[in-house]
Amino acid sequence: MEIDRKVIGYKNTAGAQNKIIIAKAMINYFIDENTKILEAYAGTGGMTELYNIKTNDITCIELEEEKFKILKERFPKLKLYHNDNILILKELISGEKKYDIIDLDPYGGCPQQIQLASKLIDNGMLIITTGEFNYVRRFGHIPKIYQELGYKIETWKDFNDVLHDFIKKRFNNANLLFQYNFNKISRIVYSIGQVNAEKIQSFKRDIQFINSDFTFEKRKQKTLF
Ligand SMILES: C[S@@+](CC[C@H](N)C(=O)[O-])C[C@H]1O[C@@H](n2cnc3c(N)ncnc32)[C@H](O)[C@@H]1O
Repeated sequence: MEIDRKVIGYKNTAGAQNKIIIAKAMINYFIDENTKILEAYAGTGGMTELYNIKTNDITCIELEEEKFKILKERFPKLKLYHNDNILILKELISGEKKYDIIDLDPYGGCPQQIQLASKLIDNGMLIITTGEFNYVRRFGHIPKIYQELGYKIETWKDFNDVLHDFIKKRFNNANLLFQYNFNKISRIVYSIGQVNAEKIQSFKRDIQFINSDFTFEKRKQKTLF
């Protein structure tokens, strides 16, 4: 099928390239034909295409009609949901599903999805794009869940720390393995529960040369509002 690159939205940016490098390292060390993967923000399948090299056990959720259509044409054999991921994550929790890898790749923040995802993984890897930074710019406030939990968030660094705290408190033994910050987003990888230490070392070695851009360091000190 002819793929419209504008719809797919994959740009040749350093951010997108780094995302691909991380996915390839995941493929090298953490994915085999038995690995169960959940992508709650599948888009048109940029990451799916890579994960699918090793496993067919991939569950994808995508809300937008046009993107879902492409996803379905590209991956007709995978388990695909065209719906709001909150509903589907709840359904998967009711069905007592568990995954080895969960990929949360939103445009904005996704604290509710993070909470739900924590019930769907015992041991494995969690990959999150922290669109939180964009969320604040877009909506002018921090996500409600963080407000209700009483987190004080005044600077970008606070935001980053809150996200890690939020994750650590919800997932079973979440260990931050890697974070790169590019432009307005971060891509973060955690190991959850028990994960083979040698594989983690090899994974880290493969991605160690990815550099964060310096703007994040500057932004850390800046107030959010
Ligand atoms: C950053 S893109 C995902 C890109 C994709 N992971 C890739 O690497 O090609 C975010 C996607 O999440 C979808 N999305 C946003 N909110 C959603 C929701 N509540 N439920 C399911 N999908 C959602 C958007 O339509 C968009 O396609």
